[in-house]
Amino acid sequence: MLITGKQILEHAEKNRYAVGAFNVNNMEIVQAIIEAAEETGSPVILQASQGALKYAGIEYISAMAKVAAENASVPVALHLDHGTDFKQIMMCLRYGFTSVMIDASKYSLEENIKITKKIVDISHTVGVSVEAELGKIGGTEDDISVDERDATMTDPEEAVRFVKETGLDSLAIAVGTAHGPYKGEPKIDFDRIKSIKEKVGIPLVLHGSSGVPESSIKKAIENGINKINIDTDIRMSFNNAVREFAKNNPNAYDPRKLLGPGREAAKKVIAEKMIMFGSSNKAWK
Ligand code: G3H
Ligand code: 13P
Ligand code: ZN
Repeated sequence: MLITGKQILEHAEKNRYAVGAFNVNNMEIVQAIIEAAEETGSPVILQASQGALKYAGIEYISAMAKVAAENASVPVALHLDHGTDFKQIMMCLRYGFTSVMIDASKYSLEENIKITKKIVDISHTVGVSVEAELGKIGGTEDDISVDERDATMTDPEEAVRFVKETGLDSLAIAVGTAHGPYKGEPKIDFDRIKSIKEKVGIPLVLHGSSGVPESSIKKAIENGINKINIDTDIRMSFNNAVREFAKNNPNAYDPRKLLGPGREAAKKVIAEKMIMFGSSNKAWK
């Protein structure tokens, strides 16, 4: 069942859990996510980055996601992750994505509002949900000081204006997480999540969630997070299993034999996340 991002996140918000949004790049990862969702009874978001669309092609990604969703017993949304290109977002609308992210977070507040509102107006006309980012969620490799990090965090008052003036459906916030593998433990500003949630009252999105400990994930959900983005943990589990198999079977050359263990390992990690996020057994007909 393919439904909109808004429908999936409204259910999560009402029932106080978070939906996992897992990055897809190939068939094995799509299958790993859907099998984990079915086994745990979780609603789920398949998301493709611009890099994923470039690698696999929008035709393949959307076709695989649609087949997966049509055959799944759980609600599924297909989402564009970190969209920055107007034309590509329009292509996603045409190819049946049910949710898109416009990431204009590198611009000034005024510009971010202007760019985001344009995407919201167009996407809502065709019934597609929109996520946008306020504040700057960097990468773990970005070498920034504590002061700089605080300056890039989402300002609750700005969030009120951003949500009101753009009419978006969910808001990605910068609260201390970063994309990629963490060196230490991320320091999440839970009070900031709570304050933004109280002020804007729409589903909030946590990016860079791989490697965030279970206790922090649970606290983030309690304070208002309803969508949790995971990519790096999928990549690592997939990659480690493929490497391990190749090491133990140096003469293996069948891609099915090599990639199969990657799919199984990713599925296990994804199912654990779904249970951690409280989305297991929340799927509805
Ligand atoms: O937030 C970024 C995601 O991890 C996607 O990464 O652009 O390398 O596909 P990517
Ligand atoms: P991680 O790769 O750190 O899990 O972040 C994923 C993400 O935020 C995708 O938008
Ligand atoms: Zn992200």
